[in-house]
Amino acid sequence: MKIISMRYSAVDTFCFVRKGVLLVLCVIAVQTNSASLKGSQAPPKSSTLRQAAEARHILIGTAAAPRYLDEADYSAILGSEFSDLEPENQMKFQIIHPRAGDDLNSYDYKPADALADFAQSHNMLLRGHTLVWHNQIPDWVKQGHYTESQLATILKNHIDRVVTHYASKVYAWDVVNEAFKDNGTMRDTVWYNQPGIGAGKGTQYIEQALRWAHQADPEAKLFYNDYDAEVVNKKSDAIYAMAKDFKQRGVPLDGIGFQTHISLQFDNPTTLASYAANLERFAKLGLELHITELDIRLADSSAASLAAEAKLYGQITTLCVQQPACKLVQTWGFTDKHSWIPQFYKGMGWALLWDDKYQKKPAYEAIREALAK
Ligand code: G3I
Repeated sequence: MKIISMRYSAVDTFCFVRKGVLLVLCVIAVQTNSASLKGSQAPPKSSTLRQAAEARHILIGTAAAPRYLDEADYSAILGSEFSDLEPENQMKFQIIHPRAGDDLNSYDYKPADALADFAQSHNMLLRGHTLVWHNQIPDWVKQGHYTESQLATILKNHIDRVVTHYASKVYAWDVVNEAFKDNGTMRDTVWYNQPGIGAGKGTQYIEQALRWAHQADPEAKLFYNDYDAEVVNKKSDAIYAMAKDFKQRGVPLDGIGFQTHISLQFDNPTTLASYAANLERFAKLGLELHITELDIRLADSSAASLAAEAKLYGQITTLCVQQPACKLVQTWGFTDKHSWIPQFYKGMGWALLWDDKYQKKPAYEAIREALAK
């Protein structure tokens, strides 16, 4: 029997929840959450992020990579401060399915399995990322000149194998990642229209992917995940329209992931209010909301910048704490030593909660305090 474990208590006990079953337990947990939001009790100063988040009945997570697990500081922090872990790259098509075909030799589960084992041995939930994305796709897919129906078979089998491999381990999947352009139209990708399996048919291929994933593991929560859709804008409008349509027609979509890769510019009242309003409209559709890839990039590491970063981390965490449908605050890595930012944004960095020597930054305490408020 597939079981999804959710931590819902302030101490180290688990409430085991089968999706759709034991609803009573889940409802009790949600009510406890609302109650604790009103009369909050600050966690003791010595508590970890994980303990503070548990008191709020939400998960605190991070992306991680197996190649750093043998750094003592890395694994000690990962295993004690977080209740949710997501492979940063290891479940992406290029890494997990590097060779053509669909037999065991075509897949390479080892790197992601190492993280799954780590999560299991540290009582952390494992979040899956990602089954359908235009990036990190192997050449055998990109350059295979497949017909639409061949490509559909490739994607169906891929989703089936990977989701089945992690059934009972992954509690939630980013099934489709970044399928929209900023203007709200569909992104041109190998999956959509190049050659794609859904050219001209809007969100139908996303629906199809969700249905395949649901078939492979009916217990997993299925998410659509994107960036720059945190505030109300054309992209989030398009995602909202899709989500509304899917909920009305019973397409198995359980939640939306808001990546939240941001800079200090995000710290303005209009932007933050728009993020809150956006979360609220998705919540009203009955969706679970996850902040999935939070990081705040800086141009320098001055005390002022670190303080501004901390303030914004606190504000984003508060948005999730104050929104009952928001169940996860997950950062994209946790140490500046291993962040993707410097490689992709030249001259920027210092985006995470621990510095490159594993010292806690002001952002750490800001999140803890936001969880405690
Ligand atoms: O593994 C190879 C290594 O063998 C090689 O020596 C090295 C040389 O540069 O490259 C390594 O691969 C890199 C890989 O990360 C693992 O570190 C790739 O070049 C690099 O492009 C890849 O970047 C990842 C990026 O997605 C790809 O688009 C980042 O780590 C990862 O943080 C980032 O994550 C994405 C989310 O999945 C979706 N949302 C946006 C987010 C940030 O871009």
